[in-house]
Amino acid sequence: MSIDFKVADLSLAVAGRHQIRLAEHEMPGLMALRREYGPSQPLAGARIAGSLHMTVQTAVLIETLTALGAEVRWASCNIFSTQDEAAAAVVVGSGTADEPAGVPVFAWKNESLEDYWWTAEQILSWPEGSGGPNMILDDGGDATLLLHKGVEFEAAGFVPENPQDNDEDYSYEFTVILDRLRRSLAEHPGKWTEIARGIRGVTEETTTGVLRLYQLAAEGKLLFPAINVNDSVTKSKFDNKYGIRHSLPDGLNRATDTLIGGKVAVVCGYGDVGKGAAEALRGQGARVIVTEIDPICALQAAMDGYQVATLESVLDSGDIFITATGNKDIIMARHMAAMKHQAIVGNVGHFDNEIDMAGLARVPGIRKVEIKPQVHEWVFDEGTDAQRSIIVLSEGRLLNLGNATGHPSFVMSNSFANQTIAQIELFTKHGQVGADGSPEYTNQVYVLPKVLDEKVARLHLGALGVELTELTKSQADYLGVDVAGPYKPERYRY
Ligand code: NAI
Repeated sequence: MSIDFKVADLSLAVAGRHQIRLAEHEMPGLMALRREYGPSQPLAGARIAGSLHMTVQTAVLIETLTALGAEVRWASCNIFSTQDEAAAAVVVGSGTADEPAGVPVFAWKNESLEDYWWTAEQILSWPEGSGGPNMILDDGGDATLLLHKGVEFEAAGFVPENPQDNDEDYSYEFTVILDRLRRSLAEHPGKWTEIARGIRGVTEETTTGVLRLYQLAAEGKLLFPAINVNDSVTKSKFDNKYGIRHSLPDGLNRATDTLIGGKVAVVCGYGDVGKGAAEALRGQGARVIVTEIDPICALQAAMDGYQVATLESVLDSGDIFITATGNKDIIMARHMAAMKHQAIVGNVGHFDNEIDMAGLARVPGIRKVEIKPQVHEWVFDEGTDAQRSIIVLSEGRLLNLGNATGHPSFVMSNSFANQTIAQIELFTKHGQVGADGSPEYTNQVYVLPKVLDEKVARLHLGALGVELTELTKSQADYLGVDVAGPYKPERYRY
């Protein structure tokens, strides 16, 4: 059977397969789920549209989902994050480069925005007669957004005009989405409504995507149930923090190889990702300054020993600026114009709107020099005494995935074990009713029960040689918990 796909180069599949094989050993949670659920095939009949960085680790996730019975189509959730060898290996599967037998993947490193939204449409457009997708696995919410916008415009009967350049909310990317939906609405009227009708649920990976889901649910617009994977403790308190602690310096080093020790590093946002970023930079010997808007996180940063300041007050002292807020308009063109010569600017928040790249490009007389892909020097005031430049990584997009290969396998095994459990949960409980006769899942956003969170952690202890102390029955009674867990109330914050 031939599969449709679009990746950079299938001849990279052998290299990709070696990396996947090594990653499997580092992903004990996913491999344990394969052993536990492989025989019962809980995802048989699931047709999953996946949008998540197409890395080696994601390849192990995809092949876990298929090992549990699912059919899958996949795209990356970022234009720079695909590892082409991983994408090739997933497509080839157990076949060959001439006769691929794996999973349809639509992802390559360095996509244009037009390519990107085309790939998003491909994962939702299943072959004739397949029945269409019935699950979404999302990271950042772009697949969910495309589908919701498609349904909204179909209901309205038209796609709005593209916003103009001088519109305050103008974003070129939004016009790309509108163009894509305009085309599909003309070619296949009713397509998005039909797809949405088949979807049993979405499982969302990251803080930013989860924010979008809660907003949709609050407006009563969420079209199917959602599981917030990010807020499993074994996701956000591990991937966001320890993952970035590894992959941020990796990205900085591969991009610039600038010595971090002794430099002043500014981290914007001291949430889970910011905490990992600050720790990593301090670990390399940088003097770290944090910016925050939340007094609790600002106090945490101060108690952790960091200077907390406003961005404006440290522009001329910072050597490295990292955004990790999940918010927009954090480092603006006027900020970048006031930085030191060869200051490094990068983002590890989900979207590129943390750094004002459009504003930077509009600075009069500015020149962009490509040092290498995903590393650009922006030169101000060329030819004058004031000439200096800054270095922007991954064009303001996730630098740990654009300039390096994202988080390492072991931490992603935690995140993706939650993803797999969440997919099983929503797929198998679709249409079921609880003891009180009400549906198990309605069009709201849910988190996985704590006992499953603890299970994910437990699956990773052995590989690290962790010896866990067991509660005695009388200790458990004293604490008011079960010997087998869960051990903490929902309100506990870790
Ligand atoms: P979070 O909500 O825990 O932390 C964000 C922090 O930024 C908050 O403490 C907030 O108060 C602060 N903040 C908001 N606006 C700010 C402003 N104007 N100035 C300074 N601080 C501000 O979120 P989390 O989990 O740390 O995620 C942050 C972003 O990173 C999200 O977009 C998330 O999706 C993304 N992410 C990226 C990963 C990667 O591999 N690069 C991995 C996981 C998450």
